[in-house]
Amino acid sequence: MAKTRTQFVCQQCGRTSAREMGRCPQCGAWNSFIEEIIAPPAPEPKFRSGLYGTASTPKRLTEIDTLQQDRLLLPISEFARVLGGGIVPGSIILIGGDPGIGKSTLLLQVALEMAKQESVLYVSGEESERQIRMRAQRLLSLDPSPDQNKEAAKTFPQSLFLVTETNLPQILEHVAALKPRLLIIDSIQTTYLPDLESTAGSVSQVRECASQLRELAKTTGISVFLIGHVTKEGTIAGPRVLEHIVDTVLYLEGDRFQSYRLLRSVKNRFGATSEVGVFEMGERGMREVPNPSEVFLAERVIDAPGSAIAVTMEGTRPLLVEIQGLTSPTPFGNPRRTANGVDMNRLLLICAVLSRRLGFHLGEQDIFVNVIGGLSIDEPAADLAIAAAIASSYRNCPIRANVVLIGEVGLSGELRMVGQIASRLREAAALGFQMAVVPRRHNRAELYPATIEVVETRSLKQALAAALLDEKDSRFSN
Ligand code: TYD
Ligand code: MG
Repeated sequence: MAKTRTQFVCQQCGRTSAREMGRCPQCGAWNSFIEEIIAPPAPEPKFRSGLYGTASTPKRLTEIDTLQQDRLLLPISEFARVLGGGIVPGSIILIGGDPGIGKSTLLLQVALEMAKQESVLYVSGEESERQIRMRAQRLLSLDPSPDQNKEAAKTFPQSLFLVTETNLPQILEHVAALKPRLLIIDSIQTTYLPDLESTAGSVSQVRECASQLRELAKTTGISVFLIGHVTKEGTIAGPRVLEHIVDTVLYLEGDRFQSYRLLRSVKNRFGATSEVGVFEMGERGMREVPNPSEVFLAERVIDAPGSAIAVTMEGTRPLLVEIQGLTSPTPFGNPRRTANGVDMNRLLLICAVLSRRLGFHLGEQDIFVNVIGGLSIDEPAADLAIAAAIASSYRNCPIRANVVLIGEVGLSGELRMVGQIASRLREAAALGFQMAVVPRRHNRAELYPATIEVVETRSLKQALAAALLDEKDSRFSN
């Protein structure tokens, strides 16, 4: 076979060159040259048959069958929900996450489950076959000792195939021979095309390999999972282009020192984005957490100053989380602000509002804010809870038990409405919370659940008066 020819192309202006250049002579961009395969000219497009042939026929809306189930059912329901209900045949799904967060574990679990119904090929470029088998035994809670291996062999699904391979043409040959329904590549950064000169994991390798795997998925209907590594900056290594190539991008995130993991979809052609699945990493792999709010609130100490409960929306699901605040007199000079799980700019804004509008002397206090469970919240709906946690710690006065706080804090100390308030309230009521402090609603049509007392407030000041235990304090009443 003739060696595939490649060229370097400036990603800014498209100038081509036979060798790599640090700076594009045409547009002046730095480090913009990426190696690309020179594709043979595409065959004459067959527009006529596509347009006038019988390949597709328009249907009336009523004629389209909605009952048709075309997704592969995935028994791990937290995962299936993030995907939008199951695995779409012929889709290509990228899963990114920090090293050691549990990507390989989770996908091996997916492989073990799926292999009960379909044939699955798990390609690893990172671990040996033996390592994977030992992990699988652990996941199925089998004894890893060698004399138990025979026992284990009986419980392993027969249609799960493993191979340690990084050479993409080789992998494609295995796929052609095995014809699996599901292909898992661990990881896209270790996979390489020998035709390209650059090393595995480089931008051009990652992009070309992903494109070829997409071709495979689209032409054969095999669903492909790609595991991707994350760079220091937090994006999937080997660039954003990868996110354009695939149908679905999922991130597995969480604090490495905590056991909870969130599987979050950031792009999904077949379902809602920003949907979240919650897992707990345990002895036997990732366990689904169907009731995350309960789990996140489990260690809460009622009546402790500095603890507030916020209700955030993770995709379509409301999630109750505990936010802790601590203020402590600054020993010298500059007061510090430490935000763990909340945006630093929001924290600074809330501190400024508390100082200027409510007269808190935060200028001489160090402030720490922490979200329990290793979660990170980027929603302004948690503002009120953050403010209340700080106020509660500063005044050393607890927030009433069984109160949730929802609302965005504005610069003049007003409380602003947030989206999906009714479903947040329903979740809080379902978990036994008796009172919710919320912004005043403008749309009376929105129905609040009857099982929770809803206190509508206009300002942060009123909200704190309602939420803190010593509400009669003159500083907070109007
Ligand atoms: P892994 O899936 O290898 O992470 P990634 O592929 O994202 O790099 O997970 C590695 C970590 O998971 C490792 O620290 C061990 C831990 N782990 C468990 O806690 N329980 C288990 O059952 C398994 C298999 C791994
Ligand atoms: Mg791994």
